[in-house]
Order: sequence, then structure tokens, then C-alpha cells
Amino acid sequence: MNKLRILLTGADGFVGRCLSPILSDEFELIKAPAYDLATGIGLDLSDESAAHELVNDVHPDIILHLAAIKNVGRCEREPAVAFSANIRTTKNLLTADTVHMVFLSSDYVFDGRTGQYTDLDSPHPSTIYGQTKRQAELLVLRAGGTVVRSGGLYGPASQPGVLFSWAMEQLEQAQTIEAFTNVFNSPTYVDDLALALMHICRYRPGGIYHATGGERLSRFELLRMLAQSLGADAELIQPGFCPEQTGTGISPSDLSLICSQRSPLDIISLRSPGQVLPSWSQAGSPVNAASH
Ligand SMILES: NC(=O)c1ccc[n+]([C@@H]2O[C@H](COP(=O)([O-])OP(=O)(O)OC[C@H]3O[C@@H](n4cnc5c(N)ncnc54)[C@H](OP(=O)(O)O)[C@@H]3O)[C@@H](O)[C@H]2O)c1
Repeated sequence: MNKLRILLTGADGFVGRCLSPILSDEFELIKAPAYDLATGIGLDLSDESAAHELVNDVHPDIILHLAAIKNVGRCEREPAVAFSANIRTTKNLLTADTVHMVFLSSDYVFDGRTGQYTDLDSPHPSTIYGQTKRQAELLVLRAGGTVVRSGGLYGPASQPGVLFSWAMEQLEQAQTIEAFTNVFNSPTYVDDLALALMHICRYRPGGIYHATGGERLSRFELLRMLAQSLGADAELIQPGFCPEQTGTGISPSDLSLICSQRSPLDIISLRSPGQVLPSWSQAGSPVNAASH
């Protein structure tokens, strides 16, 4: 039987690198060429004709669209760049009716006032990043595609400048870390997300799914768990408090999501850090990346 062909965008990013080996077991995986935003070298998916040509050449059954700018601060400072990378790329790839798009979206489509959001809750983003992801979601849904929202991703692939990498460096040097006790999300192990995305690609259900780890945790709780799993002094993680902010561009305080429990995700287990991190420390695995 012929394998389904997936065109994967953002394949060189944090999620793409974790996802590729998992997907290539079951699907014919074609990675969109990389694009370096800083130098402009590579294939820019916000270029309409380049994106169309790619889709026409590859002729995929599914486009798994990960390419985006996820840096929340950069999106606030450069909204036109955020629009281009997060919305225009999506629009450009939605060219053929026969192709199903699976779009990786974010907990930032919510404003973070209440937390524990389900896939039935109405989005209300408070950041440019969240607004661009939401607008892209609407394009995908209108085209009959599937939107998968996740958040607080962490995993064993190294990525400089992100929460776990930075925290590990600090812990290794026995430096104290002040971590917010009033900023929450649902930390998600990237390999579990990969399995959920693989399952979504198998069934292409359409609509919105939440795929996140099963526990709402504050930054403080998460970093304490990380310290414990590394055998570091957990007291180096000290409680801090994020001051309340007003206006647009505020950091949402509770972006926790409730994982969707309906088919086809009902048989996938997205574990909490309490289930994942202890097994890493037993196996001596590197724990060196998390985003957002
Ligand atoms: N990481 C998380 O915690 C998280 C949580 C929820 C949702 N997501 C979503 O998951 C997706 C993947 O995230 P990630 O953590 O893997 O991000 P990432 O490491 O920054 O990877 C994104 C990739 O997209 C590429 N890209 C950006 N603009 C492009 C364009 N115009 N044309 C072609 N490629 C372009 C980037 O290239 P450069 O390297 O040149 O920038 C990068 O390789 C994103 O859509 C993000 O919104 C992430």
C-alpha cells in the first residue's frame, strides 16, 4: 500500500526535528527546505509563488505546517514579520482543495485569565503572537483542516535560549533561579505531541484539538521538578511573583489547556512532567530543552 505523503514545514525547528524520525516510519515525509529569517537564505513560505510551486512539486496528501515565529516578544516588536511568518505562510500553503492541512497552533490563542481551556472555549488572544496563530487557525478551519493546539513544549533536543536549557545551566553552576508561582501552562513532552500529531495525520479529522500534557503547573513547580529529576538542589529554585500587567502584549498568566479526549486522540496518552522527568533521570537522558 502506498504511504501517505506529508509535506512538513518548519522541519529544522525544535518540534520538526523531534517529529521527523517518528513520522518517517509511517509516512513518506518530504521536508520543506529550510529558511533562515536572519539572512533570507532558503525557501520563504511567505513568498506566494515559492509556496505554490513547492506544493505543486511535492503533491502531498497532508501539509503538516509548523513553520512560524514563536518568539512572543519578537512578534510584539515586529508585527509585520509575525503576520508574514504565521499567517501569510499558512494562506500560501492552502492552495489545493485535495490537501489536508494539519496546523500546529498554540495556547497563546487564549488570554490566560482563567486557564484550563477546552477545545470548545472561545479564543481571545492578548498578544500579537496569539492573534496571528488564531487568524491562521481560522484559515485552516475554513479549508477543512485540523488545528492542534499545544503549549509549554519540552524535550531532549537541544535548543539554546529556552527555559530548560537556561535552567540547567543555572543549576549546574549552583545559581539560584527565581521562578514565577503565578504563571501556569500545561507542559507537554514533545515526543508525546509527535505521537498525537502522527495520529491526527492518520485520521485527518478536521476541527480543533488540544494536545497537551495532563497537568497544569506553574513555572516554579515545573523547575522544581526539573531540579529534582536532575538530582540538583531543588532549593535553588525560589518562588517569584509576576506582577500584574495591563494593556496589549501582556504575558498571559494561565494558559493551561485541557487535552482533548475525543477520537482520534482518545487513545493517546500525553504525559505530565511528573510522569516524564523521573524516567529521564533514571535513564541518564539529557534534559535540555523547553520552549515558551
Ligand atoms: N515550542 C513550543 O512550546 C510551541 C508551543 C505551541 C505551539 N508551537 C508551535 O509549533 C510550531 C513549531 O514550533 P518550534 O518550537 O519548532 O519553533 P522553531 O524552533 O522556531 O521552528 C520554526 C521553524 O519555522 C521556520 N520559519 C519561520 N518563518 C518561516 C518562513 N517564512 N518560511 C519558512 N520557514 C519559516 C523557522 O526558521 P528560522 O529558524 O529561520 O526562524 C524555524 O525553522 C510553531 O508553529 C509554533 O507556533 C510551539
